[in-house]
Amino acid sequence: MRVLVTGGAGYIGSHTVLLLLEEGHDVVVVDNFSNSSPESLRRVAALCSRAPRLYRVDLLESEKINQIVRDLAPDAVIHFAGLKAVGESVAKPLSYYRNNVTGTLNLLDAMESAGCRNLVFSSSATVYGESTELPLVETTQRSATNPYGRTKLHIEEMLEELAAADERWSIAALRYFNPVGAHESGRIGEDPQGIPNNLMPYVAQVAVGRREQVNVFGGDYPTVDGTGVRDYIHVLDLAAGHLAALDYLTDRTGSFVWNLGTGEGSSVLEVIQAFARAAGKDVPYQIVDRRPGDVAENYADPVKARLELGWKAERGLEQMVQDMWRWQENNPYGFPEEASDSYDNDELNEQLLKAASTVQSSSKPNNEGNQK
Ligand code: NAD
Ligand code: WQD
Repeated sequence: MRVLVTGGAGYIGSHTVLLLLEEGHDVVVVDNFSNSSPESLRRVAALCSRAPRLYRVDLLESEKINQIVRDLAPDAVIHFAGLKAVGESVAKPLSYYRNNVTGTLNLLDAMESAGCRNLVFSSSATVYGESTELPLVETTQRSATNPYGRTKLHIEEMLEELAAADERWSIAALRYFNPVGAHESGRIGEDPQGIPNNLMPYVAQVAVGRREQVNVFGGDYPTVDGTGVRDYIHVLDLAAGHLAALDYLTDRTGSFVWNLGTGEGSSVLEVIQAFARAAGKDVPYQIVDRRPGDVAENYADPVKARLELGWKAERGLEQMVQDMWRWQENNPYGFPEEASDSYDNDELNEQLLKAASTVQSSSKPNNEGNQK
C-alpha cells in the first residue's frame, strides 16, 4: 500500500514510518521540519534498508500539498503533522488553530480532490479534558481545556462530519495516551527542542546530566504516592496501532475512534525510580507546586482497540525506560543540529537512498519506497 505520512520525521511519525517500511509499504513523508530534522529519516532508512520518499513542505502550502497528493495518489494517509505543546498553545492560540486545523483542512481538500479517502489521524487523550471517570472510554464526553486540546477536538468533529456527509470516507482517530520510549536500536527517539514539557524526556535529560533535577508537579494528589498518574505507552506499540488501524479501514467506511493506551497507570515517582534503575544512577527530584490544568490521574480503557483492531500494547514501563535511556545515552543532545533548509528535496531523497543502501544488514536493500 502507498501511505502518505504527514509529520513523518517527528517522534511518533519516524517510528511509524520505520514499521511501515519494514512491512513492505511504499511510504511518502511530508514534513516542514518545524519540530524535527531529516536525520531521523536517514536513520530510519539505515535501520530498515529502505527509504521513504520525502517532501519538505508545510501543510499550509495548499497548492503544493494538492499537487503532491494528486501526483503520488496514496492509498491512505497517516496524519501526524501538528504542533503539540500545551503551554505554547495558550500563548499562541492562532498558530495552533492555523497549523493544526487549517493544515488538516488543506490535507483533506487535497485528499478529496485526489480521490484518496482513507485517513488515520493523531488525536489525543487530551480530548477527555478534565474527566475523572476512569478508565477513560471512547464514549466519555469530550472537552478541551486549552487551545491545543481544542484543535484535536475540532478536528475529530470535522472528521466525523465529513464521514457522515460522504460515505466514501474511511477515517480513524487514534487517541494516544502518553507516548514514551524509543526504538530499541537507540538510533531514533524523541528530540524535544528547548526545555521538555513532558515528564519522560525531562527525566531522561536529568539522567544524562543535561538538567539538574526533575521538578515533580504536586505531591498531594489522591494517588498511590501523591504524584500524578498517567498511562505511558511505548512509541513502537503506538506505531503498531497505526498499522492495525490502516488495516481495519481497508474494507470499511465511516469514522472510528480508538484509545491507544496500556490501561495501566504509573505515578511520576514510579517513572523516576524506573528510569533510575534503567540508567543505573540516581535521578534527583524535588516536589514542587502542582502544574495548573493537570488532573490527578488518567489511564485508558484499551478494550475497544483490542476487540476491534486486534491491537494491544505489549511493552511495559521497564522496557519504555530502558529504550528511552539507550536513545538518550547514545544521543545526549538528540539529533545533530542541521539547518532545516540545508538541502533541497532531491538532495534529501538521495541521502535517504544512500542511507538505505549503506546499512550493514542481511536484509535486502530495497528502495522501491523511494520511487514514484
Ligand atoms: P513531533 O513534533 O515530533 O512531530 C510532528 C511533526 O509534524 C514534526 O516533524 C513537525 O516538523 C511536523 N509538522 C508540524 N507542523 C507541520 C506542518 N504545518 N506541515 C508539515 N509538517 C508539520 O510530535 P509527535 O510527538 O510525533 O506527535 C505527532 C502527533 O501526535 C501530533 O499531531 C501530536 O499532537 C499527536 N500527539 C502527540 C502526543 C505526544 O505526547 N507526543 C500525544 C497525543 C497526540
Ligand atoms: C505527566 C505527569 C505531570 C513534567 C501531555 C499533554 C497531552 C498529551 C501528552 C499531546 C503529570 C508530571 C511532568 C515535569 C512532572 N500530548 N510532570 N514534572 O500532562 O499527562 O499530557 O502530554 O496530546 O495533551 O497534556 O503529560 O508528560 O506533561 O506529564 O511532575 O517536569 O508528569 O504533572 O502528572 P500530560 P506530561
